[in-house]
Amino acid sequence: MLGRRRWVKAIVALGASALWLSACSTQKDAPQKEAAGKDPSVPAAAEPWKVGAYLSLSGAETQFGIETKEGIELAVDAVNKKGGVKGRPVKVLYEDDKSNPQETNNKVLQLITRDKVVALLGEVASSRSTVGGIVANKHKIPMITSSATAPEVTQIGPFVFRVCFTDDTQGQMGAEFVVKTMGKKRIGMLYASDDVYSSGLAAQFRDAVKKLGGEIAVEKSFIKTETNFTTYINEIRDAKPELVYAPIYYNAMVPIARQAKAAGMPGSTFVGGDGWDAETLIQDAGDEMEGAYFTNHYAPDVPWPNAQAFLKAYKERFKRDPSSLSSLGYDSAMLLFDAMGRAKGDTPESIRDAIAETKNFEGATGTITIDPNRNADKSIVIVQIKNKKFTYYATVNDKAAKP
Ligand code: PHE
Repeated sequence: MLGRRRWVKAIVALGASALWLSACSTQKDAPQKEAAGKDPSVPAAAEPWKVGAYLSLSGAETQFGIETKEGIELAVDAVNKKGGVKGRPVKVLYEDDKSNPQETNNKVLQLITRDKVVALLGEVASSRSTVGGIVANKHKIPMITSSATAPEVTQIGPFVFRVCFTDDTQGQMGAEFVVKTMGKKRIGMLYASDDVYSSGLAAQFRDAVKKLGGEIAVEKSFIKTETNFTTYINEIRDAKPELVYAPIYYNAMVPIARQAKAAGMPGSTFVGGDGWDAETLIQDAGDEMEGAYFTNHYAPDVPWPNAQAFLKAYKERFKRDPSSLSSLGYDSAMLLFDAMGRAKGDTPESIRDAIAETKNFEGATGTITIDPNRNADKSIVIVQIKNKKFTYYATVNDKAAKP
């Protein structure tokens, strides 16, 4: 039992620690020493900018999320090394949406209402960017998706932007490449019917091929949970198309490439879109896919001036070649930080306005101008899988910097 005196002491001590605690909690948003980093050029007293990033860091499309995060981290390091934005360091708060739309909704809401971020980066996939975009737009927090290409995403409203091209252009460029450059007219298609990116890109490609005088000889679709594609592959093979367009993610393309090879269709019969770009495709199906082409945002040997500096910095830190996802993640963050620096004020609204005014931004994925629909007007590259590497083949829809 405590004596009276000790009780009094204990109560005083408790009161003091409560005071101390409440002082701490009111200072929650105040300068954080560690956020300023060890870089002496960033004043320790400057309050960090809080930016939220929501990504698929686990679940079905984990590799997309991880690679995008790596690009964002490089950008954060680069900007903080230069003294941050307007003298304040940048801190990115990451949330894992588990590749799941419901989780995406919750995580984006948390970043906005709990963490009070001034801007959002994410998501990688069109399906989840649509979910996050609705929340961001409703709360008037600017969001930049690095790699969601479905046209619907930026149509959500004035706060939603992207730094990648859109699937109407990608589908058109894919069709022109197949029909005009490769000279193929009899074409097959295989895509995921329940994915907004895959079915949307398939539709754009189909229309463009027909307009160019090509024929869709056979078309099959699957749902994302399927793993055995043999029936579709056999039906496609039996229709004897000259080539098969497969605008799908790497995680479906790996089993499809293996099962197609077993059915007598080499990987080079397939042409894809940007969803192929993940190291796993090379690691798990590099042999099967040798020679295949796809439309993309980036390859380590693209000819743009800022691509090489990015490649070097990425390789130094991560000891391998970057993917489109990493380079787009880097560009989304760099473009946002640039806009934050140009913004007339520090509010989400003024940052939004500055993003909308971006012109000829030199990124690792080319020169980016944000158009009136908040899309990125930029080049597309054709990439070939060659000796188990993603190799630059050509630039289409060329948008080199204009004065
Ligand atoms: N464009 C895809 C989508 O909209 C995502 C993606 C981009 C995947 C780049 C791989 C590489 O869902």
